[in-house]
Amino acid sequence: MTTTYSSDFPFDDLQGLLRFGHRHLKDSCFLLLRVADAKAAKQWLADAPVSSAIQNGSRPKTALQIAFSVAGLRALGLRESVIGDFSDEFISGMAGHESRSRRLGDVDGNSPEYWAWGGGEQQTPHVLLLLYAEAGKIAPWRKKAQGKPFAEAFELLAELPTDDLGAIEPFGFVDGISQPELDWAGTQAIDSHGRDGFSNLLAVGEVVLGYRNEYGQYTVRPLIDPMHDPGAALLPAAEDRPGLKDFARNGSYLVLRQLGQDVPGFWQFIDKASGGDATQREQLAAAMVGRQRDGRPLLPPAAAEIPGIPADDSLNSFNYLSDPAGMRCPIGAHVRRANPRSGDMPSASGCIFSRLLKILGFGLNRHDQDLIASTRFHRLLRRGRPYGPLLTPEQAVKADAPAAERGLQFICLVANISRQFEFVQNAWMVNSKFAGLQQERDPLLAHRQPLNDGTPTDQFHRPDPAGPVQTVAHLPQFISVRGGAYFFMPGLSAIRYLAALPTQGDQPS
Ligand code: HEM
Repeated sequence: MTTTYSSDFPFDDLQGLLRFGHRHLKDSCFLLLRVADAKAAKQWLADAPVSSAIQNGSRPKTALQIAFSVAGLRALGLRESVIGDFSDEFISGMAGHESRSRRLGDVDGNSPEYWAWGGGEQQTPHVLLLLYAEAGKIAPWRKKAQGKPFAEAFELLAELPTDDLGAIEPFGFVDGISQPELDWAGTQAIDSHGRDGFSNLLAVGEVVLGYRNEYGQYTVRPLIDPMHDPGAALLPAAEDRPGLKDFARNGSYLVLRQLGQDVPGFWQFIDKASGGDATQREQLAAAMVGRQRDGRPLLPPAAAEIPGIPADDSLNSFNYLSDPAGMRCPIGAHVRRANPRSGDMPSASGCIFSRLLKILGFGLNRHDQDLIASTRFHRLLRRGRPYGPLLTPEQAVKADAPAAERGLQFICLVANISRQFEFVQNAWMVNSKFAGLQQERDPLLAHRQPLNDGTPTDQFHRPDPAGPVQTVAHLPQFISVRGGAYFFMPGLSAIRYLAALPTQGDQPS
């Protein structure tokens, strides 16, 4: 995909993961660390080879990215007055509140109490270290990157498995196809009255802190008065408050969830629901995901070019305007829930008067449109990696399919955890009434707990142009949450600022 980037965007201060998925670096190693010795941790941080987002002709052979949980920022000595200006959900943490767990669908066996990491105080990582290297070269890169005094500085809480499955996720579908295109050059109007169709171009401030978001505003974040903190001279100025230094500028929130996938369970269920017919099995699985296994969309290209998606990108140049009832791609399919695309002011064409009616909330044709409007405020930049041995659907349907730990280290980058990740997870994935549907949650991801009044939520509905809606009942849960946490991935100057913090918390507060 080609994009013109603004040459003056400070890519040198941005961690590379915000701009690149490092997909050419096939090997990776995700480490969850706890700070054992803050002084040594800061010493290591001062020289850590963190990869920036600068693009120099040749592609890098290795990359290192780093992010911190709130406990990690505290362990390094960041003042409470600075921490307090991060968002509530970051401070409280993914597993920090029962109501948050309920909203995220982390209930029953998925509750944080059963997680392998992230579920309790002692299991909360301080630091997430993401290492990437060319195939077969991760071990020497890890050794080099962990140079002195890494061993004194950190304790290894967990090493998360990752595997190169060749662009597919463990169920066997090509993954990482659709991503928002960040508008680095600021070419697109943010004005909500002028934008009434799906655009894949997204204001930088939706993912990177310190820039205008899709509301034309700056997300609340820690700003530091240099009068009271000389160290803040290391930080860039806040664009909206030039007298203050912006600790979070060029940083992003990073959401990490380890999602175990029951691959034999998934394919065996679908096989049974398809009467053992391999063609129908493929079709049902594709309907649940919302794409064919090879990534092809279930819809033809959109009538008009979509901003941020080149017309020749046949995998992405579609929206759902031509399929309001979900005849081609069911409304409850994973990708349609995850990004309803044309839900952003449906049926945009028309005169100024009809547009005004829509903007004011009148003139909606269907009750479901109201629930999915304004998709541009809920986009995620996904950067996850799968793990576990490959199992084809043909192998997985056999009763003796080899069991193994398989899954996805789901990562997404956002500027607002609650409006973006939590909203998508709660209102779109886990919600059994998404877009006017009934009795079904996300067919891949969600738990199947009935509603309080006993209404089941374990169905999947697939409209059929030739007959009645096909109802698939009693879907089991295919995903188990193994761990999760919210991190902040700072810009490079903020990493230098953290490395320079005094050790004993002896700063003015
Ligand atoms: C094990 C868990 C998951 C699996 C197997 C999975 C699988 C997939 C697949 C196969 C696609 C289509 C390929 C693509 O467009 O990249 C996709 C798209 C997507 N998924 Fe997931 N996913 C998982 C978890 C999640 C979670 C937890 C979220 C967010 C809360 C999410 C959000 C998305 C989004 C935003 C898209 C792109 C939709 C679009 O723009 O058309 N996924 N996923």
